[in-house]
Amino acid sequence: MYQASAGSGGNGMRVVVTGINGQLGSAVLKAAEQRGFETWGMSHEQGDITNRTGVMNYIMHHAPDLVIHPAAYTYVDQCESDPDTAYRVNALGTQNLALACAKSGATLLYVSTNCVFDGEKPYPYEYYEYDATNPTSVYGRSKLAGEWYTSNIAHKFYVVRTAWVFGSKPVPGKVNFVQRMLQIADERGSATVVEDERSNPTYAPDLAEALLDLAETEAYGIYHLTNTGVASRYEFAQEIFRLSQRNVTITPTSLKDFKRPTPPLYNSALKNFAAASLGVKMRTWQEALEQYIREAILN
Ligand SMILES: NC(=O)c1ccc[n+]([C@@H]2O[C@H](COP(=O)([O-])OP(=O)(O)OC[C@H]3O[C@@H](n4cnc5c(N)ncnc54)[C@H](OP(=O)(O)O)[C@@H]3O)[C@@H](O)[C@H]2O)c1
Repeated sequence: MYQASAGSGGNGMRVVVTGINGQLGSAVLKAAEQRGFETWGMSHEQGDITNRTGVMNYIMHHAPDLVIHPAAYTYVDQCESDPDTAYRVNALGTQNLALACAKSGATLLYVSTNCVFDGEKPYPYEYYEYDATNPTSVYGRSKLAGEWYTSNIAHKFYVVRTAWVFGSKPVPGKVNFVQRMLQIADERGSATVVEDERSNPTYAPDLAEALLDLAETEAYGIYHLTNTGVASRYEFAQEIFRLSQRNVTITPTSLKDFKRPTPPLYNSALKNFAAASLGVKMRTWQEALEQYIREAILN
C-alpha cells in the first residue's frame, strides 16, 4: 500500500524521511538529496505512520541506514481537544517507526520539541538536554512519549529537540509565525505580540543540515538543535517587520492576557550543549531569518 518518492544518489547512505510535505521534512529531504544520499520520502498521503504493518513493510523493503522522522500531529491547540489523535500519531506512530528500525537495523532520528519542558526555567537560562522534562500540554506529552519509544526500542537513535520552526516551503492550511505576523501586519498595520514567551526561532533548512551532520557522527543520544540565540515573540516579530520592510506598530502583551487552550510556556529556550561538543552548531536566528525573508518573502 505504501508508495514513495525516491531520489537517486550514490553517496552510500540510504535515508528515509517522514513528513515530507511539512516544513522540516521537505527541507530534510532536499538536504539529503543534495548530499547525494539515496532518499525515500514518506508523505502522509503516501503512508500513514499509524499503520504499523505498512510502516514495517516500507522500512524492511527499503532497508535504509537512517530514518529521519519529523512527521507529527503539530496542531498544538487541537491536541488538547483531540488527545487520541495526538497520542496515536506522535506516540504510537513513532513506536511503529522505532519497531521497524529495531528490526531492520536502521538508525532512527526522531524530531522532538521544546514543549517537553514546562517553560518555568527563569530567563535567561536555557534547557540542557539533561534537564527534567515536564510537559504541560497534550502535544508535549505525546511528543515525549515518542521520545520514550525511540530511546527504548530503536537500537541506534537520536532524539533531537528543536523549537519555533519556520520553513521555506509554505504548508497549505498552516502558517508559521513569520507568515502569520506578515498576514496580520498587511491586514491591520499593527500587531499585539507577547513579550514574555521565549524560545529559539529555527530555520528549517539550517536544522535539516544540522540533523544530517549529527547523523554522520554516530554519537547516538539526546540533543537540542536550534538556531543560536533566544528571542521573545515580541523581539522575533520586531525583526520580522524590520527585515521585511513593513512599517508596523507593535504592542507588547503578556501570556496571561493571551488565552489559548494550551498552558503558557514562558521560557522554553533550548541550549545546544551536546551537539556543540561534537562540532554541530547553527548560526544565529537573526542571520537565518534574514535569508528566509530575503528568499521567500521579498522575492
Ligand atoms: N513547528 C515548530 O515550531 C516545531 C517546534 C518544535 C518541534 N517541532 C517538531 O518538528 C517536527 C516538524 O515540524 P513541522 O513544523 O515541519 O511540522 P509540519 O509542517 O506540521 O509537518 C508535519 C508533517 O507530518 C505529517 N503527518 C501528520 N500526521 C501524519 C501521519 N499520521 N502519518 C504520516 N505523516 C503525518 C503532516 O502531513 P499532513 O499535513 O498531510 O497531515 C505534515 O506533512 C515535528 O515533529 C514537530 O513536533 C516543530
